[in-house]
Amino acid sequence: MFVLLPVSGRAASDIDAVTYRRHVMKTMGEQVAALGMVLQKNGPAENAALHARTIALTAQTALKAFEIKAAGGEAKEGIWRNWPDFAKRLKALADGANDLAVIGERDGLEAMQAKAMTVLTCKSCHDTYTLRQGR
Ligand code: HEC
Repeated sequence: MFVLLPVSGRAASDIDAVTYRRHVMKTMGEQVAALGMVLQKNGPAENAALHARTIALTAQTALKAFEIKAAGGEAKEGIWRNWPDFAKRLKALADGANDLAVIGERDGLEAMQAKAMTVLTCKSCHDTYTLRQGR
């Protein structure tokens, strides 16, 4: 759902912070799914590097989105107790996705395919910091 409301001047609540970061993470899921289709040749190859760059931008966006300590959603408290580790993982994802885009532009889809699995590591952070295990 997409809603743009007039600026109300009130401070963002914890509920807003949770909703916001979940939108960002859903973007992440959609972009990875779209890239996966392209890498399996079920989507336009021209978009491969663009998806990788979008994933990098989304990881960067997520870093800011999680900065606000707001319990809720599927997030565990450990995120804010171990903030440097959590932040490092998102930065590694952003860097890896940017590298992936460069590889795609320079060496093509096959090279990207080979690299994608090692870069798009989602599960280990989810296992550590969320209630969504095994994904
Ligand atoms: C640094 C940790 C971290 C990494 C890396 C990470 N995630 Fe997440 N992800 C989270 C956290 C924390 C949540 C739970 C957020 C919440 O519920 O407030 C989440 C939630 C999600 C959700 C559920 C959103 C919703 O509310 O429905 C999706 C989809 C998702 N992540 C996709 C991905 C994908 C795909 C990747 C890998 C490219 C990834 N994530 C990498 C931490 C991470």
